[in-house]
Amino acid sequence: MDKKQEYFDTFGEDWDKDLTAEDLERLTHLIDNVQITEGITVCDLGCGTGVMFDMLRRRVGKKGLIVGVDFAPQVAHKAQRNFPFHNVGVVEAEASALPFYKDNFDLVISFAAFAHFSHKDEAIHQAYHILKPGGRMVIIHLVGRDELAREHHQVGGPIDQDELPSREELNEMFTRGHFDRFELAETDNLYFATGFKK
Ligand SMILES: C[S@@+](CC[C@H](N)C(=O)[O-])C[C@H]1O[C@@H](n2cnc3c(N)ncnc32)[C@H](O)[C@@H]1O
Repeated sequence: MDKKQEYFDTFGEDWDKDLTAEDLERLTHLIDNVQITEGITVCDLGCGTGVMFDMLRRRVGKKGLIVGVDFAPQVAHKAQRNFPFHNVGVVEAEASALPFYKDNFDLVISFAAFAHFSHKDEAIHQAYHILKPGGRMVIIHLVGRDELAREHHQVGGPIDQDELPSREELNEMFTRGHFDRFELAETDNLYFATGFKK
């Protein structure tokens, strides 16, 4: 296990307790904007303990499928324990080495996790690989880029340098990852990116 993985395995189980009611309300509103339809397959990348699972489950319905991915074993285990539903699964894996077939998911969504990915280019590339044609990759952080970098720097340790890419950097990443186009809504307290696969 590398230092970051160890860090999340130690502290990640309780991260969901820091989310406020306002955070959850904002997240719900953003997820509404993602327009998740019944029956689709969703990969929640860096799922943690499954904070988004219920929101996603309600939208995809019984015929849809949610697969959470997290590289921290304890965290992935807790997510699985929290959601023992037939159409929710959790896989312990690194975002840059996903164990899924090509063209498998309609949506790859990542909340409060992308900044932590050590190999962002590869994670985007992998997301593209597992997305069906017409699929989307959505990245959400409820904090702006500068504030997030400050917070991570303050926390220190292995997440000290974890940052979000600038618009230009993200554009390059999505382009290198073969995405057709991308959109980014960025404010002081939001980073909401979508990559579209043709
Ligand atoms: C701040 S937590 C957010 C978790 C969850 N999305 C939530 O909102 O509760 C970030 C999560 O990303 C996971 N993570 C970080 N880097 C990862 C990587 N390279 N591959 C897979 N998971 C990763 C961590 O283990 C952690 O659970």
